[in-house]
Amino acid sequence: MLHAAYIFDAYGTLFDVHAAVRKQAGRIGPDAQRLSEIWRAKQLEYSWVRTLMGAYQDFWALTEQSLDFSLALMKIDDPKLRSDLLAAYWTLDCYPEVPHVLKALKAAGARLAILSNGSPAMLAAAVKSAALENVIDEIFSVDPVRRFKTDPQVYDLVATGWRLYPDAVSFQSSNRWDIAGAAKFGFRTVWINRHSQPDEYADFPPRLILPSLEGLLAG
Ligand code: LAC
Repeated sequence: MLHAAYIFDAYGTLFDVHAAVRKQAGRIGPDAQRLSEIWRAKQLEYSWVRTLMGAYQDFWALTEQSLDFSLALMKIDDPKLRSDLLAAYWTLDCYPEVPHVLKALKAAGARLAILSNGSPAMLAAAVKSAALENVIDEIFSVDPVRRFKTDPQVYDLVATGWRLYPDAVSFQSSNRWDIAGAAKFGFRTVWINRHSQPDEYADFPPRLILPSLEGLLAG
């Protein structure tokens, strides 16, 4: 069923957050995947802790701080590698199905947006780099509310911005915790379970679980 509005999480859902480290894997060695996983886990931890404390810093600052922690933990002291990893974050690969699925939904008449923790500058750069500027109608960054997901004010940016009842919105995320927050807010949710993770947050289940965005076209 086609919905009026499709809202997409950015990192992990449209853009592959592990692409930055993968591109430099030869310089990092066997710990590359671990570095990427710790970097991502810390970036998210900082977002939740800062929201709970009421001490917002934008997602770019958190991305830098979490990389610095990860490099220090793994005893990697390489300023050039650090700057190359950070630079790659501005041009992350999108997942292969993303361009054609988004174009097909738009061609069918839906409005499309991103709702992300990312700073406006990071998100604009990623969208441009993936050549999605003409298909994404709006980028909603958490930055104006100075809180990260899963604060309800974040999801409300879309409902208020587009004057939509939450259940008119189909919200896609590969992050199960983000799906929980969006479901609690009232969005219709689709968990893009790219890595066959077990389910969690049983009291806030997704409406649908898909292995990639491809299945949005079949529904
Ligand atoms: C985002 C984080 C959750 O894009 O990946 O909002």
